[in-house]
Amino acid sequence: MRARFSMRSWTAAASAVALLAALGAGSVSAAEPDGKALYTSNCAKCHGDQGKADSPMAKKMNVHPLDVPELAGADGASLVVKHVREDKKHQMVSKKVSDEELQAIGEFVRTLAAPSGS
Ligand code: HEC
Repeated sequence: MRARFSMRSWTAAASAVALLAALGAGSVSAAEPDGKALYTSNCAKCHGDQGKADSPMAKKMNVHPLDVPELAGADGASLVVKHVREDKKHQMVSKKVSDEELQAIGEFVRTLAAPSGS
């Protein structure tokens, strides 16, 4: 009984640490745009919170998932930026975000695709 409980809180602590590490990696200074928040307000409606294209809108519009290996690589963020700036379906949202904000979103999308969130 005891062992099971301490095991659980250890797991929770470990994932909290992993989450902090993942967040820390993306934010160099507090002044930088928050990619996750920007993604949530601008992209999640169509792509789902985790980029899995599992929202009702995603299914309706045949949206592609963003947690794919192609976007997890070193140039993943710039691929995202390029797609949003050039793709017709993203014209509306493209107008709403600055280059800096879109770059931050791209960095966040990369973390969606990265195995084990790193
Ligand atoms: C109005 C719905 C909608 C919104 C909002 C939206 N997308 Fe998309 N997205 C789509 C659809 C539909 C596709 C698939 C067809 C296409 O690429 O045009 C797509 C595809 C993509 C792709 C290409 C995925 C691939 O590899 O095929 C990327 C990258 C992407 N979106 C990024 C974003 C980002 C980043 C945002 C937020 C700034 C965003 N999208 C907001 C609908 C949306």
